[in-house]
Amino acid sequence: MSADTIATNKLMDKLFNGRRSVWLFGYGSLIFKADFPFVERRPASIMNWTRRFWQGSHDHRGTEKSPGRVVTLIPRAGAICEGMAYLVTPQVFGHLDHREKNGYLRFVTDMIFEDGSSAEGLVYIATKENAAYLGPASELDIARQIAASAGPSGRNRDYLTDLAGALRDLGKHDPHVFAIERHLMELEEH
Ligand code: SIN
Repeated sequence: MSADTIATNKLMDKLFNGRRSVWLFGYGSLIFKADFPFVERRPASIMNWTRRFWQGSHDHRGTEKSPGRVVTLIPRAGAICEGMAYLVTPQVFGHLDHREKNGYLRFVTDMIFEDGSSAEGLVYIATKENAAYLGPASELDIARQIAASAGPSGRNRDYLTDLAGALRDLGKHDPHVFAIERHLMELEEH
């Protein structure tokens, strides 16, 4: 599969036929960089997925020659991924498909809000079949790669610290994200 997912994601537009709004679950940059209009947003979580810095970024936080690392979701039974849900109009997906084009596909998911209610919506996930997928590495090595990477959307380290800060603001603890952030801080001290 090519890393560019725009055409495949567009095929999902037919799911929106007749819908005035759609819930979108964000767990990475979509938490801290909402550069799209939304009707409302609410903290939410999805089940059986865990957040990992296992996706390469050649277009936003790295380059073709020196990719950065950004988050994707990995299936894990019983895991809970905390993030932010946005209610958006279907038109917004044109912009989102372009922003998430380096390997992310739209998947249908249930999301649970903090009041215990739930809704069906979409989430962008970069699966291991995509060409930009990097896969596991130690949290220290991930921090080293992040410290060394930058791309058109800015420094990779800012993606990490913005995500960690946004999770803290939500009152959520993500051991993987926070461990990589700690390694980054140590690397930057030396
Ligand atoms: C997301 O934030 O939901 C997708 C991954 C990213 O854009 O960082």
